[in-house]
Parts: sequence; structure tokens; C-alpha cells
Amino acid sequence: MPDRTRPVRIDDVIAVKAIEDCCFPNPWDIDIFVTLASSKGCVTLRKGKKVCMQIIEHNSSVAGYVVWEDCPDTSKGRVLNIAVRENLQRRGFGRSLIQHVFDSLAERGIKTAALEVREGNLAAHRFYERMGMEELGRVPNYYDDEDAITYSITL
Ligand SMILES: CC(C)(COP(=O)(O)OP(=O)(O)OC[C@H]1O[C@@H](n2cnc3c(N)ncnc32)[C@H](O)[C@@H]1OP(=O)(O)O)[C@@H](O)C(=O)NCCC(=O)NCCS
Repeated sequence: MPDRTRPVRIDDVIAVKAIEDCCFPNPWDIDIFVTLASSKGCVTLRKGKKVCMQIIEHNSSVAGYVVWEDCPDTSKGRVLNIAVRENLQRRGFGRSLIQHVFDSLAERGIKTAALEVREGNLAAHRFYERMGMEELGRVPNYYDDEDAITYSITL
């Protein structure tokens, strides 16, 4: 079966959480993934703001996922989380996931997408630059132990 992105489902959550724990020093709590999975991958908040999550499958299991925010009132999107299973990195799954986000935001008339990344996560910096994003600035102590670098792209 070809690799594809689709909204997260409840039976994906264990695999998602395993990837999350492997990839990040301060992983998200499982409840966040459960909430998104229980809402067909999209939760609507105040002022029409949405938080959405898609996973990408490979050989019928979860290869990676992305979570993003879509704010129609500010016309901005924000990537909140993206990760690919360690043994499947550098095979284009991250590219497919982030492209899905850019396409969905653009379809909804959103003009820019931004994100924060740990200063020391050089692999992610290279990835975002390759995806056409530009460095915007620094947020001191955005993470408890590290500054964030902000990236942005015009859609
Ligand atoms: C960042 C991440 C999501 C990228 O996913 P991926 O599936 O490995 O990325 P892709 O294979 O789609 O890479 C696309 C391009 O980005 C660049 N890139 C990706 N990973 C890279 C790395 N480790 N070093 C240098 N460039 C990299 C390359 O140019 C790559 O194209 P190429 O392989 O043809 O050279 C993945 O490395 C990951 O899950 N990292 C751990 C979690 C994380 O840091 N998330 C980001 C938090 S802000």
C-alpha cells in the first residue's frame, strides 16, 4: 500500500506516543494525542482556531505525525509538533507531512506558517530550511533549558 497521510485515529496513539518519547527530551503527554484522535484529528477552539493532527503510514503502521494550528482570524498557521520514527527518517515522510500542512493551510486562505525549534536541533533546522522556511528570530528560554529559533514561510 502506498504511504499516505490521514487524520490520527485512537488505535494510532500508542505508536505515536512511542515515536514522541523517542524523539523529544520533553515529550507531549499522551492525553493530547488521545484528544485529537477522539476528535477525528481536528479540535476547534475559540475564534475558529483549529488544532489538527495527521499521521503518515508506512507498511500499515505509523511512520510519523504532524500537529498544527490554524488561526483564521490572524491568517497564520503554526506547526506545533512533527516527528518521524527514527529508523524511517530521511525517506521523505517529514516532507510529505509538512507539505500536507502547508497545502491545508493555503486551501483555507492562511497566508503564513511558522514554528519554533530548539536552537540545538540542527537536523530540524536543515529540514525546515529545505522545506523553504526562513529563520525569523530567537525566543530566549522558550524551552526551559534552551532558546527557540523561529522559522516562517509564506504560503
Ligand atoms: C525533522 C524530521 C521530522 C524530518 O523528517 P524526515 O522524514 O527525516 O525528513 P525528510 O526525509 O522528509 O527530509 C527532507 C529533507 O530535509 C533535510 N533533512 C532532513 N533530516 C536531515 C538531517 N538529519 N540532516 C540534514 N538534513 C536533513 C534533507 O535535505 C532532506 O532531504 P534529503 O534526504 O533528500 O537530503 C525528523 O528528522 C524527526 O522526526 N526528527 C526528530 C523530531 C524533531 O526534531 N522534530 C522537529 C521538532 S521542531
